[in-house]
Amino acid sequence: MKTTTAPLLLLPLLVGVLAPHAAGDGVDPKPTPWPPRFHAKLVMDFHGNMSLADLWYDWPGGRNLHVIRYQLAGDAPFYDNEWNNGTSFFYTPARRTCRTAAVGVGILPPNWLVQGSVYLGRHPAGGFDCHVWAKADFITYYEDVRTHRPVKWVFYTGRTSHVMSFEEGAVLEDAGWQAPEYCFSKVDETSSNNAFISEPVAGHDEGFFHKRILRG
Ligand SMILES: *[C@@H]1O[C@H](CO)[C@@H](O)[C@H](O)[C@H]1NC(C)=O
Ligand SMILES: *[C@@H]1O[C@H](CO)[C@@H](O)[C@H](O)[C@H]1NC(C)=O
Repeated sequence: MKTTTAPLLLLPLLVGVLAPHAAGDGVDPKPTPWPPRFHAKLVMDFHGNMSLADLWYDWPGGRNLHVIRYQLAGDAPFYDNEWNNGTSFFYTPARRTCRTAAVGVGILPPNWLVQGSVYLGRHPAGGFDCHVWAKADFITYYEDVRTHRPVKWVFYTGRTSHVMSFEEGAVLEDAGWQAPEYCFSKVDETSSNNAFISEPVAGHDEGFFHKRILRG
């Protein structure tokens, strides 16, 4: 079975590697823009460091929130709350700790992947037949061919997010976005904030979506 099917499986692979533009009608598929609002549940893996995350994306609201539960963490959840005005808040309510960062750029727009991405062909991910794109060597993105939902993305650091559910249009109420009061207790945050950027938490790429992919 394996030996007879292997050449058949190899052929499209080779075609994909050698002449990615020759497949189909010659026009590469474009990634589907994100809906303006969604809620996704993610399983994240950073070199074996596992976590569950709720991702709330709210483009009209100019905000993007990851609520992360690291495996067996006693102080979960950890929040990564990013705003389009360039401010990000990272906080752990169980410890009442917060760091803020002046990131300088906003959140990803819904079409962030459309411009400047390179189509890598069709590859399976998690059992789904996917279109795959890479952008600026920072991210590889897998989208289900049939439903156009994201299935997986992989950062150049190795941090991988598996999309377990994807609810288009889901909205987190305003209270869920409010950074806690202990994020606002210090007066001059600017210099120490910038230091944080150079020492990210494991698996954070200056926040969960690497800011440089915006400029790719
Ligand atoms: C950005 O927006 C958040 C949420 O409204 C706010 O807390 C923060 O102070 C703002 N940052 C700047 C630099 O205006
Ligand atoms: C995984 O990474 C997070 C963030 O750096 C850390 O808080 C957590 O302790 C790590 N988990 C393990 C098991 O090392």
